[in-house]
Amino acid sequence: MVSRVIPVDPFDLVVFGGTGDLARRKILPGLYRRYLAGQIPETSRIVGAARGEMDDAGFRSFVADALGEFLPGSTRDGETVGKFLAHLHYVPVDAKGEGGWPDLARLVRHDVVQAFYFSVAPALFGDLAERLHRFGIAGPEARIVVEKPFGRDLESARALNATLAEHFHESQIYRIDHYLGKETVQNLMAVRFANILFEPLWNARHVDHVQITVAETVGVGGRGAYYDKSGAMRDMVQNHLMQLLCLIAMEPPYRFDPDAVRDEKLKVIHALQPVPAEDIVRGQYRGSARKGPGGEPSYVEDAENPASRTESYIAMKVQIANWRWKGTPFYLRTGKKLRARASEIAIVFKEVPHSIFGDEEGWRENVLSIRLQPNEGMTLSVMIKEPGPGGMRLTEVPLDMSFAEALGEDGSDIPDAYERLIMDVIRGNQTLFMRGDEVEAAWAWTDPIIAGWEARGDRPKGYDPGSSGPEDALMLLHRDGRRWREIRE
Ligand code: BG6
Repeated sequence: MVSRVIPVDPFDLVVFGGTGDLARRKILPGLYRRYLAGQIPETSRIVGAARGEMDDAGFRSFVADALGEFLPGSTRDGETVGKFLAHLHYVPVDAKGEGGWPDLARLVRHDVVQAFYFSVAPALFGDLAERLHRFGIAGPEARIVVEKPFGRDLESARALNATLAEHFHESQIYRIDHYLGKETVQNLMAVRFANILFEPLWNARHVDHVQITVAETVGVGGRGAYYDKSGAMRDMVQNHLMQLLCLIAMEPPYRFDPDAVRDEKLKVIHALQPVPAEDIVRGQYRGSARKGPGGEPSYVEDAENPASRTESYIAMKVQIANWRWKGTPFYLRTGKKLRARASEIAIVFKEVPHSIFGDEEGWRENVLSIRLQPNEGMTLSVMIKEPGPGGMRLTEVPLDMSFAEALGEDGSDIPDAYERLIMDVIRGNQTLFMRGDEVEAAWAWTDPIIAGWEARGDRPKGYDPGSSGPEDALMLLHRDGRRWREIRE
């Protein structure tokens, strides 16, 4: 099935930090893929802006290299790449000074959609926002896109919101959480709100518990300095896992409209309970036993901080105090250097109230599993009779709702989260972006949890690279008579 491509209006997109890592790995290759899909109108301009001196030709060859590195050769014939590169420009700008801004003002037009992507340190957001107005670049409808981390606590997030609000209206601010751009995450909303089947079961009466797992195999090597000040709670839970939790837990919005959806998510965040110490397990990966070539460094080596107490893994039991979810725990876990790269949301339903088949061996609950990556898709496990004449024996089979068939065998037609979100910015659709109050509420819940373990002086537990995390995380579920789902690709 070829996905429908919705045309967009001509635009000028300026990427501040245009030669940075995110631009190279995600933003620019994503734009090329949108070009292939016919979504970059002929007259649109994509402008890289950064500190370094470079001309258009230099930037085009930088982008050509990035496409070569991050996209399969089959998608890159020379002529098409050349036509895409013709949309690109580069302006050296000094975020804290005056240099380059008049040049940018000459290049960026007012009669097309304007988007400014701040792929830079948050400390520069205010400087960029102010200059975009002072130099007459941003028109009244201009949109700005800001990356995480959006603050490191409530206070800094408030300060950032206040700075941005001095120059832009909330309706112009697009705070990216790229998890919201993932194909399955949006499908979660479709499954919940476009089918009658699930809604009657979607509550504490029928859902035993929910597991949200975002497991990664990579360590923090290369970005240890940033990560060590952040840890899994700030880097992943406060934003990505929180957003997933909100989409599962929220009430049906009255319409699929940005504020209607975000109002419902905000209510969930407000209903989150404080998390007691015994419901949190933090971990830090050890190094591999073998040192030297082929051996793997430990977290503290990657972070270059032997005394670090930062967690590279966290598991927690989260309770939502409202009518729908009271009594249904949400277990969250995320970590680096785990056994597989696998992200999954599992809705584990309760057992039938009475089994007419007796105490069947191998009885399992119904589970709706939503796979974010890899192998995007959904399965619903149901119990059926084992085929054959062997009597009334039950077996579990998956009802497969995977998207592979619909979206190309290898999933290569599934747009990357970034390209989808950038196109939403151009279309002016904020549904999949976080509103300022949402981010602040998420920090208001996160801050006391972090303050709690800091005050207690808790140390994270060690876990082996390639494992499922610290042993104590198993206990978090065992003591409730439950078990984690296996982490596997
Ligand atoms: C980022 C985090 O936001 O998300 C990284 O800062 C993490 O630490 C990444 O590795 C995971 O994203 P994805 O799309 O690869 O699951």
